[in-house]
Amino acid sequence: MNSAELTYALEISHLRKSFGGLVATHDVSLTIRPGERRLIIGPNGAGKTTLFNQITGDLQSTAGQIRLFGVDVTQLTPYRRAHLGLARTYQIITLFDRDTLEHNVTLGLLGLRPSRWQMWRPVSYYGDLSTEARRILDAVGLLHLADSLVSDLAYGEKRRVELAMALAQKPRVLLLDEPLAGLSNAERATVKALIAAIPRETAVVMIEHDMDTALDLAETVTLLNYGRVIVDGERDAVVADPKTREVYLGV
Ligand SMILES: Nc1ncnc2c1ncn2[C@@H]1O[C@H](COP(=O)(O)OP(=O)(O)OP(=O)(O)O)[C@@H](O)[C@H]1O
Ligand SMILES: [Mg+2]
Repeated sequence: MNSAELTYALEISHLRKSFGGLVATHDVSLTIRPGERRLIIGPNGAGKTTLFNQITGDLQSTAGQIRLFGVDVTQLTPYRRAHLGLARTYQIITLFDRDTLEHNVTLGLLGLRPSRWQMWRPVSYYGDLSTEARRILDAVGLLHLADSLVSDLAYGEKRRVELAMALAQKPRVLLLDEPLAGLSNAERATVKALIAAIPRETAVVMIEHDMDTALDLAETVTLLNYGRVIVDGERDAVVADPKTREVYLGV
């Protein structure tokens, strides 16, 4: 493709977020191509999750601009951004513990937050969505647990459900915030395979501390530190960059 014609999936320019005196992201600029696999790394508190929150609109930015497939979404609500093809998973699981797996997925498909859920409605009330919810659970091998309470699931199973729910939206850009955190080796392999199987229509931007696993999935890497982009580029070049060693090893 002629680079002059390229429409980026995501184009972030001079993005900033401050919480009072604390600057969490600082003049962050980066571009993601359609279908790209990008890994975001950086120490605790580097601003990685804040950057995701700004991209989705969960947090309003202090300054800068965010474009999604050429559309300026900086002032749009999270809901509008989702409609333009943006989906995410959270660092902390957001499923509702005291409800069944199927009901969680069904209501998730409706784009409802737990606070808006009406627990007394049977799943059948939602008709086709219930069928879709069961299809999603089947895709991640959890259909047999559809009627179980989320609280009875293993942590890795909850992670798989969240990933499947995000993918069900058929996003053009998917943000994954530490999808491998807290997983056993076996669960990590399962989730890694799910991520590797995401279709190329979807650009995947993943925050992850488990570099052994995540680097395999990445084509490009961005290193953040103290809210700033320190290194950004092709995976092997970023890994070999002395600045990356400096941040991670302090040498
Ligand atoms: N809602 C908030 N209010 C105030 N400060 C915040 C808020 N969210 C994040 N911060 C601060 O912004 C900085 C960046 O936090 P952020 O969660 O983005 O880091 P992170 O790179 O995702 O770290 P981790 O790897 O630990 O998840 C931290 O100093 C954090 O305490
Ligand atoms: Mg984080």
